Parts: sequence; C-alpha cells; structure tokens
Amino acid sequence: MTDSELLERATDAMERAYAPYSGYRVGAAALTAGGKVYTGSNVENRSYGLTVCAERNAIFAAVGAGDKAIEKVAVVADGKRLPLPCGACLQVMDEFGVSEVVVGRPGGDFETYALADLLPRPFGQDG
Ligand code: THU
Repeated sequence: MTDSELLERATDAMERAYAPYSGYRVGAAALTAGGKVYTGSNVENRSYGLTVCAERNAIFAAVGAGDKAIEKVAVVADGKRLPLPCGACLQVMDEFGVSEVVVGRPGGDFETYALADLLPRPFGQDG
C-alpha cells in the first residue's frame, strides 16, 4: 500500500470525526505488518479532557482486533500546519512498533517522517 493510499483511508476517517468543540477534524489510518488497515478519527467530548485523538483511536482499533504489529500511521487534517501527532500519540505509536508517520492534508501535500525523528527519546522503564 502506498503512502497516498493510506492517506486516502485516513481522509475517509476524517469525515467521521466528532469534533464539535475544536472544529478540527483529524483522520488516521494504521497499516499493520500483515497489510491490514485500521482507521480512527478524533472523538471529542463536552468534558474536553475526555477527547481521544484520531491516531490513538486507529491504533487501539488495530490492537483491539488482535493486530499489535503496526508499521505505519497516516494522519490527515486541514490546517496551516501539517498534522504532526501529539506526544501522547507518538508514545503509543512507539509501543506498537510504528516506524513511519505520514502527515498530510486531504487530497493534498504530505510528508513522511521516521518515528525516531519525531520521538527520539520515548518513555521506557527498561532503557
Ligand atoms: N488531535 C488529534 O486527533 N491528534 C493529535 O495528534 C492532536 C490533536 C485532535 C484532538 C482534538 O479533537 C483536536 O485535535 C484539537 O486538539
């Protein structure tokens, strides 16, 4: 699957975002080692702190389905800046072996990063 195809899946998920408070819709698609794709969007709540990011919803959908080896995550949102994932989502990506992160605008430009560049020092008790 190409980065563009994975971004398309993330864009479909973005359409399903529940973001009435921020108005910022995010979609994510997680590609597993077995070639399956799991998607997620951001889901907000009127108790703002309960909001869950699109990336974690996509990754947790994969893990919940028994797919724990995730290679790549694509993230799509509209905005001035490309949607680089927040620190919490980067830490969760590290947990499940993500090596590359693709960030783009719907149907537009995108960039690909190594997770190690975005999160060079992940939390870990064992070194
Ligand atoms: N958000 C994501 O979905 N992913 C991120 O990596 C950062 C932020 C969402 C959470 C909230 O619904 C909206 O973007 C504004 O912060």
